Amino acid sequence: MNLAVLGATGSIGRQTLAVARRRGDRVVALAARRAGPEFWQLVEEFRPEAYSYDEGSGEAAFGRRLSGPSALTELALWPTVDTVVLAVTGFDGLPPLLAAVGAGRRVAAATKEAIIAGGDLLRDAVARGLLVPVDSEHAAAFQLLGGRPPQTVRRLIITTSGGALRDWPLERLSDATPEDALRHPNWSMGPLVTIDSATLMNKGIELIEAHVLFGLPLERLDVWIHPTQIVHALCETVDGALYASLARPDMRLPIEQALAYPDVPEGALRPLEPEDMSELRFARPDALRYPSLRLCRDAGTIGGTMPAVLTAVDQVAVQAFLSGEIGFGSIVPLIASVLDRHEVVVSPDFAALKAADAWARRQAQVLLRGSEAR
Ligand SMILES: NC(=O)c1ccc[n+]([C@@H]2O[C@H](COP(=O)([O-])OP(=O)(O)OC[C@H]3O[C@@H](n4cnc5c(N)ncnc54)[C@H](OP(=O)(O)O)[C@@H]3O)[C@@H](O)[C@H]2O)c1
Repeated sequence: MNLAVLGATGSIGRQTLAVARRRGDRVVALAARRAGPEFWQLVEEFRPEAYSYDEGSGEAAFGRRLSGPSALTELALWPTVDTVVLAVTGFDGLPPLLAAVGAGRRVAAATKEAIIAGGDLLRDAVARGLLVPVDSEHAAAFQLLGGRPPQTVRRLIITTSGGALRDWPLERLSDATPEDALRHPNWSMGPLVTIDSATLMNKGIELIEAHVLFGLPLERLDVWIHPTQIVHALCETVDGALYASLARPDMRLPIEQALAYPDVPEGALRPLEPEDMSELRFARPDALRYPSLRLCRDAGTIGGTMPAVLTAVDQVAVQAFLSGEIGFGSIVPLIASVLDRHEVVVSPDFAALKAADAWARRQAQVLLRGSEAR
């Protein structure tokens, strides 16, 4: 299979390339933001027909170098590509996602911010099976829901470890440093998604992602804390039965499943044994500890441009936290303040989503500088 890997040097990108090596896929297009040593190593190894970066310099003796705002889209539409792996962060993933599915291409999509921002614009791609989730909980849910009539599903539950600060006393949470919040118990991920796991913004965003991908209303979607993250998703049917999807927490499984779909990739992961499952505990997330869940539910219910605003501000807020501008306890309130000020566009086209994303980032900066100007 010929792949375009967008976000090749990131956590998902690297694991995708490990899967591609195992499967013997060709990587005909690859992209990262910065062209550092790792980027050039990958270009040397995979010898893509086209590659892009925006920061740094250099050129390979082979392949075409692209750059600028349309580079990701051009790579997603590169003629020899069969499947696009979307593993960049944020709204930047939306144009290549829309372009690829619009051209009838399969997209293995990790970039949840792009999925939730795209919302209704992705409905057709979902219906045509072009958008295959890579997020571990959604990949598990995708397997659980496959072929099940939607009216028989009463509830879909996705799990969370509770993040790096799950067991911290509530009154100490606002003192957490970036180092504390970056210490995720189960997964090694990029900084944005790791901080989002500590606030549970990640899980709230994933609720909206599940809503977009599976068409279930938000009130039939739930989050349970499950510290060992062996169970990734559960599906409750109307008869009261609960079906679960279990696997070791390893992103290579959902990535390989997405690439192989509808086939089942043999030997993708070491199977679970009874001793791996001795700790199957679950709990309901505490609304006081995790106000992000309510916020995300509300944003998802309002829909329109609200989810795009949510992820845009989230990125700014996480960056501000990582750079020491705000404390951990200010991340969610900052996001809430911007959401409160947003005038929603109900059925946005791409231009409206892009404008909402830019507005949200500006507004977040305004609030960060302590100004109330609109
Ligand atoms: N990590 C996980 O386990 C996980 C699980 C589920 C879903 N996800 C989702 O997958 C996405 C990627 O996460 P990650 O953890 O892999 O992030 P990451 O480690 O920060 O990597 C992001 C990658 O995308 C590149 N990139 C970002 N913006 C770009 C742009 N505008 N143009 C070109 N390249 C760009 C980065 O390049 P530079 O390094 O040069 O900036 C890097 O290669 C996120 O949406 C995340 O929520 C991640």
